[in-house]
Amino acid sequence: MSEGQTTTEVILAAEGVSKSFGSVAVLFSVGFELRKGEVHALIGENGAGKSTLMKILSGLHQPTSGTVKFDGEKIDLPPFGQAEDLGIVLIHQELNLAEQLTVEENVFLGREMVNGLLLNRKEMEQKVQLYLDELGADISPRDRICDLSIAEKQMVEIVKAMSRDARVLIMDEPTAVLTDTETQLLFNQIEKLKNKGVAIIFSSHKLSEIKQIADRVTVMRDGQWIATKHTEELTLDAMAQLMVGRELSKLYPPKNEVDVDAEVVLEVKNLYTDYVKNISFQLRKGQILGFSGLVGSGRTAVFEAICGLAEIESGEVWLHGKKTRLHSVAQARDAGVAYLTKDRKEKGLLLNQKMQPNLTLLALPNFVKNFLMDDKAEQRATARGIRRFDIRARDPNITAGDMSGGNQQKLLLAKIMEINPEIVIIDEPTRGIDVGTKQQIYSFIAALAADGMSVVVISSEMPEIIGICHEVVVMYSGRIQGILQGAEINESEIVRYASGLREAS
Ligand SMILES: Nc1ncnc2c1ncn2[C@@H]1O[C@H](COP(=O)(O)OP(=O)(O)OP(=O)(O)O)[C@@H](O)[C@H]1O
Ligand SMILES: [Mg+2]
Repeated sequence: MSEGQTTTEVILAAEGVSKSFGSVAVLFSVGFELRKGEVHALIGENGAGKSTLMKILSGLHQPTSGTVKFDGEKIDLPPFGQAEDLGIVLIHQELNLAEQLTVEENVFLGREMVNGLLLNRKEMEQKVQLYLDELGADISPRDRICDLSIAEKQMVEIVKAMSRDARVLIMDEPTAVLTDTETQLLFNQIEKLKNKGVAIIFSSHKLSEIKQIADRVTVMRDGQWIATKHTEELTLDAMAQLMVGRELSKLYPPKNEVDVDAEVVLEVKNLYTDYVKNISFQLRKGQILGFSGLVGSGRTAVFEAICGLAEIESGEVWLHGKKTRLHSVAQARDAGVAYLTKDRKEKGLLLNQKMQPNLTLLALPNFVKNFLMDDKAEQRATARGIRRFDIRARDPNITAGDMSGGNQQKLLLAKIMEINPEIVIIDEPTRGIDVGTKQQIYSFIAALAADGMSVVVISSEMPEIIGICHEVVVMYSGRIQGILQGAEINESEIVRYASGLREAS
């Protein structure tokens, strides 16, 4: 057999693997086989157990029962690190880099190349540069991680794995943070690795990507194995249906009309910051306004400035017809503006706290009675949030950091709704969210707008921008390139503005 062809030879397998955290069972006798040289997708709803299975296969978690086999041999993978010696590398859903170190230092952390007693910086840098070039990543080995965007950090994780000569590469939602172009670059890389005989496990909620890149698909639901099939046997609908176990209705709710004379609740005039130039736009009551553009085009920077998280150099912000300057998220909140960041790990949640303190954090004054915290009211709010957003955690006392990625996102949404905002700004609302829940979030956003709230949706997913927004601002390189309405809101128009091919008239 020639090199790089998919075989039926199994390199890594789980047999009857179950996992409990304390008394809470999350995996139930799962079987899984990864063949040499295949790309095997793992799909399922938020909380289905994908990340947990991946962590077991890479030795980060011990199964409660069942076995893991590598090259046909039963193996015990713990503790940390041993799996990498076998060539099993996991890239986490929430990335795992030393923020203060450089790209090169991260790639070679713990395995530095030496020349006698000295570190061989030059050679390490060259090696890293080579990988970066291969990936088409525009960063330098000397850049510090904390100065990189999430997409760039993801690239570093991939370089790290490449430099480790991985035989099995396990990627937990690697494309959740990538743009379409970056995703294609990653897929080229995956193809190359596959042709070298590397076996790859890959999870994603973007089913069309799975269709494109995976040889086989395993579906999980509620901690159980549901099916393993060749990708060509499955349509996108069939995948979605296997995941949720029921038929899905339309993904996007119908768009309601926005009154052209509706009150302008937010107006920005000629805003300049370090990153963005001459930003002007209006947001009306009941409107859903999209911000589209490539990663790094300045979408997030605009709203960080408006909400007081970044310095404004010049320009004006008007709220309800009054000139305002917000200096912190707390001030924004008091002015009725809720801002939901896209980096839930860094800015959004208290990861070592339970759901309740996370949920009520922004709205604490609402939960005080006679100068004391009203625990009952907090509990009611938590129960309401869990119901409203369908937050799934088997253990109600789980800490936020242990919740599945998608459920963390739902918790964040529930949290900002506690302050009854008039303007809701959501950066990447459905990152890491499964199809069933996406549909819930879209109808939720539509309902907010129908109730007279105004919503800003910053998103790299073009279909969702097109599917739910009344108006779309497209940014390119720190500027607004175009503002689209009605029938202009389509993929080719957005791409032309977002890539700088077309300018605002
Ligand atoms: N360390 C932990 N302690 C307690 N429960 C945990 C822990 N890690 C995961 N869980 C629970 O295990 C279940 C499966 O979570 P997992 O992260 O594997 O889901 P997932 O399929 O990756 O979901 P997502 O698509 O949202 O990332 C969830 O109910 C989660 O809350
Ligand atoms: Mg996960």
